[in-house]
Amino acid sequence: MNFKKIKLPDHIGIIMDGNGRWALKRGLSRIIGHKNGVEAVRKTIRYASDIGLKVLTLFAFSTENWKRDKNEIHGIFDIVEQYLETDLDEFKSRDIKFRTMGDITKLPKRIYKKLTECTKQTCNNKGLILNVAINYGARDELLLACNNLIKKGKPATLEDLKNNLYSSDLPDPDLIIRTSGEMRLSNFMLFQSAYSELYFTNSYWPAFDMKQFNRALIEYSKRDRRFGGNHKNVQK
Ligand code: IPE
Ligand code: IPE
Ligand code: MG
Repeated sequence: MNFKKIKLPDHIGIIMDGNGRWALKRGLSRIIGHKNGVEAVRKTIRYASDIGLKVLTLFAFSTENWKRDKNEIHGIFDIVEQYLETDLDEFKSRDIKFRTMGDITKLPKRIYKKLTECTKQTCNNKGLILNVAINYGARDELLLACNNLIKKGKPATLEDLKNNLYSSDLPDPDLIIRTSGEMRLSNFMLFQSAYSELYFTNSYWPAFDMKQFNRALIEYSKRDRRFGGNHKNVQK
């Protein structure tokens, strides 16, 4: 695809959903579904870095995902840890800046360590910003921001609120993709998504491929973003 000819987003957020159903459909365990999701993560990051995307936010684990079975939760964390171990070198060679969003202090210590280590080792990189939302929930994020602002004891501005979000240094997502056919945000970037374009695909996350990524990009390029302003081509 000729990306010079189409309008690309700066920031894409992906709600990577459907690992469990992908596995169940094949008579496999949910954990195998998560393991297979890693390959889709890898391909997506490579592609995002190849096309020169500025920011990619991947929703990996929500504040509500703690409701799941302990084995599944720890299985997911093990997969994240292994993935970072194997792919950190590639982040470095691709000049990818890794960072996280969410309360990572509540994660098992070894995961916390791995996440902070990857963040530190790539902090001077200038390519794609890879923002991983882990133990992230938009309601928690907003609550945290409000409590920080209350401590200041004066009315806050919109700018103050933005500056107190995990994503304070990132642009709002232009495009949010959700896989698996569910059409909801499930507590993902509720403040930042006010004017994001939404794209839903029925494909389960492990089956998400670059053909589908391209489809989302083409669809995005055709959207008329008005941010509350006037329609183009409409007579006054
Ligand atoms: C997304 O896949 C991964 C996480 C939420 C961690 P799911 O595990 O939610 O898969 P489904 O939705 O049950 O199929
Ligand atoms: C959203 O998926 C969270 C992640 C992709 C990490 P869920 O599977 O948790 O969302 P619901 O429960 O279907 O809304
Ligand atoms: Mg799900």
